[in-house]
Amino acid sequence: MSVETIRWKKDRVELIDQRLLPAKLRYISCRSARDMWEAIRHLKVRGAPAIGIAGAYGAYLGVRSSRAAKYRTFKRDLDRTVEYLATARPTARNLFWALEEVTGLVEQNRDKSVPELKKLILEKAHGILEEDNRICRLIGEKGAALIKPSSRVLTHCNAGGLATAGHGTAVSVITAAGKKIQRVYADETRPVLQGARLTVWELTREGVPTTLICDNMAASLMDQKGIDAVVVGADRIASNGDTANKIGTYNLAVLASYHKVPFYVAAPFSTFDLAIPDGSGISIEERAPEEVRTVGSSCVTVPGVDVWNPAFDVTPSKLITAIITEKGVIRAPDRKKIKKVLS
Ligand code: MRU
Repeated sequence: MSVETIRWKKDRVELIDQRLLPAKLRYISCRSARDMWEAIRHLKVRGAPAIGIAGAYGAYLGVRSSRAAKYRTFKRDLDRTVEYLATARPTARNLFWALEEVTGLVEQNRDKSVPELKKLILEKAHGILEEDNRICRLIGEKGAALIKPSSRVLTHCNAGGLATAGHGTAVSVITAAGKKIQRVYADETRPVLQGARLTVWELTREGVPTTLICDNMAASLMDQKGIDAVVVGADRIASNGDTANKIGTYNLAVLASYHKVPFYVAAPFSTFDLAIPDGSGISIEERAPEEVRTVGSSCVTVPGVDVWNPAFDVTPSKLITAIITEKGVIRAPDRKKIKKVLS
């Protein structure tokens, strides 16, 4: 049962306001690039592939009422919108990838009229959304082959339908593995609790046996209950396989290595950044201190205490057993293997 994270409705984008889950399943409307920027920045829509789709639609919303009559002025309006949307969040490669796709398409069709270009951009956004569902299914199939019968799987953050068009990456592996999954352990994923709020919501809807743990329980879980695989998503993967994902992913990779548990990253081609040689080049978003000082709306510390709140960390490729992509599984990822599979 996939979710419809983001959809086009007549003249606007509708997306699930993920800040309200699991208490409320509510769609909100985005009618302008600014609405979309706000939705991305404030995590109404989140997860790398979903942010990419949102970005493509945001580009359309930003230029649909452009009064430009000629390519040059239209392109200037598009560039402005794209630059603006690109400031919403810095880490997920998919946002920049989708914006580049839109820009590239317009550049290739400079001979077309402005109304035609607008139509092409909207069709491109629809295409990115549809393609995401196809890609996520493929990731699920390829990843499921790595899961052994009766597996206990640990996941982090939310790499499910809500983080994509509707099917998920890491969660697609879990759902495609079906009966081979004995139980999924979901990290709560402080500070924003994507695991507790979103992954648990998705998995229980799917009928997957699910256990929620606090992030600091993962070592004991591996030691005492046994985990057969860790499966996570990714926000940006450098050309050597170093992977940025939700803060706390690196901890899990270190623990998995110590406990000899396979550590899998599930991600589409659009998450790879082949222009970056390694993880040190990935820009890591730092978010507001209030996210750490509070749980829900309650302050849980001394108000105003100094806080460090990086939203992502980088797992070195040497800790990754395999990266599962729609194009194939890259075992013990390195620059050469990544280039071969993705080209
Ligand atoms: O800050 P978020 O919620 O956007 O972070 C999301 C993640 O880190 C996901 O694990 C990642 O985007 C993979 S989504 C398939």
